[in-house]
Amino acid sequence: SQRTLVLLKPDAVRRGLVGEILGRIEQKADWTISALELRRLGRELLEQHYAEHVGKPFYEPLVEFMSSGPVVALVVEGERVIEGVRALAGPTDPIAAAPGSIRGDFGTIVRENLIHASDSEESAEREIKIFFPGLA
Ligand code: GTP
Ligand code: MG
Repeated sequence: SQRTLVLLKPDAVRRGLVGEILGRIEQKADWTISALELRRLGRELLEQHYAEHVGKPFYEPLVEFMSSGPVVALVVEGERVIEGVRALAGPTDPIAAAPGSIRGDFGTIVRENLIHASDSEESAEREIKIFFPGLA
């Protein structure tokens, strides 16, 4: 099976959507949450996490936003979780996201799109090392 790194972004925490979003993940058959932590993210960690976006026009505002309050970081394990959590999340632009998806139900603006989920097995392993270096 697979594992993936999920972040409930500061907007999700501020708006009291953590239970709602975690609930959707928890309810999927045979998926397991194997690590979970509330934490504030610093610039160095965000630069590692968003390495592919450093220098893009939206990078600075993204880091500002991602460090504006605590996030919930978690690792989810199970059958096709990488594709699965991204399907629950919906596309990056919440207005383009279908109702029923997390971004489609709760989001409006691209930067504050509630959730991050790793986009490949390589990204998942890289990101899990950044957030949970102690995890095997
Ligand atoms: P994540 O699951 O959060 O990684 O989203 P993604 O994979 O759908 O998007 P991507 O990795 O391309 O970008 C990471 C994050 O940067 C997005 O989730 C948005 O919060 C933000 N972002 C991406 N593209 C844009 C953009 O064009 N404008 C703005 N303002 N933010 C963007
Ligand atoms: Mg991404």
